[in-house]
Amino acid sequence: MLKIGIIGTGKICQGVHLPAYDKIDDVEIVALCDIDEKKLNSLKEKYPKARLYTDFEEMLNKEELDAVDICTPNNIHSKAAIYALNKGVNVMCEKPDAVSVVEAEKMKEAAEKSGKTLMVMRNNRYRPSTKFLQQYIKEGKMGEIYAGRCGWIRRRGIPGWGGWFTDKEQAGGGPLIDLGVHIIDLAMYLMGNAKPVTVSGCTYLKFPHTSYSKIDVEDLAMGFIRFDNGACLQIEFSWASNIAEDQMFVELRGEKAGSRMSGIDRKFEVFTEECGTNVCLRPDIDDYRGMQHHEANIRHFIDVIKGEAEPDFTPEQGVNMVKILEALYKSAELGHEIQL
Ligand SMILES: NC(=O)c1ccc[n+]([C@@H]2O[C@H](COP(=O)([O-])OP(=O)(O)OC[C@H]3O[C@@H](n4cnc5c(N)ncnc54)[C@H](O)[C@@H]3O)[C@@H](O)[C@H]2O)c1
Repeated sequence: MLKIGIIGTGKICQGVHLPAYDKIDDVEIVALCDIDEKKLNSLKEKYPKARLYTDFEEMLNKEELDAVDICTPNNIHSKAAIYALNKGVNVMCEKPDAVSVVEAEKMKEAAEKSGKTLMVMRNNRYRPSTKFLQQYIKEGKMGEIYAGRCGWIRRRGIPGWGGWFTDKEQAGGGPLIDLGVHIIDLAMYLMGNAKPVTVSGCTYLKFPHTSYSKIDVEDLAMGFIRFDNGACLQIEFSWASNIAEDQMFVELRGEKAGSRMSGIDRKFEVFTEECGTNVCLRPDIDDYRGMQHHEANIRHFIDVIKGEAEPDFTPEQGVNMVKILEALYKSAELGHEIQL
């Protein structure tokens, strides 16, 4: 049995992570940690054997864990991950990896030094549509993918309700760091994870009155990323914006075919040519509803620490992601393109 400890028992933990571990054989939740005792106590009945902690350092010092799963606000991710890795414990961590490049690099160093697995949640990589497209690309059916466009735009959807999501110190930013990390990663993953070389971004805060809490992060971010292989990616992320409808999409342009995955309506299309005619393929795929792709990511983490799979995510990809996000914020602040 692999012994798992959880750090942060809020919404994503109780809604997704714990139900995923409950379904996986060979794992046991032996310790739970949260600074909020009420939340911890609410889990007592469901996990009577788990020891409860309000301090993750104490948990990691007292328990013999195989892995921790970090589901705290963003600014705690790197602190908890580094502490666990230094104790020789494998780490699964929620996105975003960290709120600064310095912290993401320290996480990568701690993983390398310990020889343990550091995996950050990239649940969209586990959608059936992603798996299809990955195979389609591998078989050369899209040719070179030279450009992409992606986004997750909400008309009204500032998260938080008085919490940490809208506080720059704890969240690191708004929809760019919150939603961007999912979708930029998905686009880059499918485009072959080329090295980002320059970024240009703009951020805006125009809807503070629609938030129920203090807000000092952007509500809209637009930008552009260039890669070392000549490819580019256009991005947009909003929590509030005057648009027709909410969208979550990744569009790829390849020499032989293009594609559009749309996460909200679960529409997935490939645009290609057959017999000299433009055709649109609609693969007969039921893209996961709800949180099944998170569960698949957690299952992959467990397979990796059991030595049964090679990690699909590398800490270097995490550092590259945070470099992009940080540079987009810097570009928005300075008003010009940034070299990475
Ligand atoms: N992958 C996804 O689809 C997805 C979706 C939602 C949230 N998330 C990420 O999950 C993380 C948590 O989000 P949430 O919505 O569950 O937030 P939440 O506020 O509901 O839960 C966070 C929990 O962490 C606890 N906490 C804070 N500081 C702590 C500390 N030092 N030690 C232990 N516990 C501490 C809080 O008390 C709270 O219970 C965030 O990083 C967020 O970006 C990911």
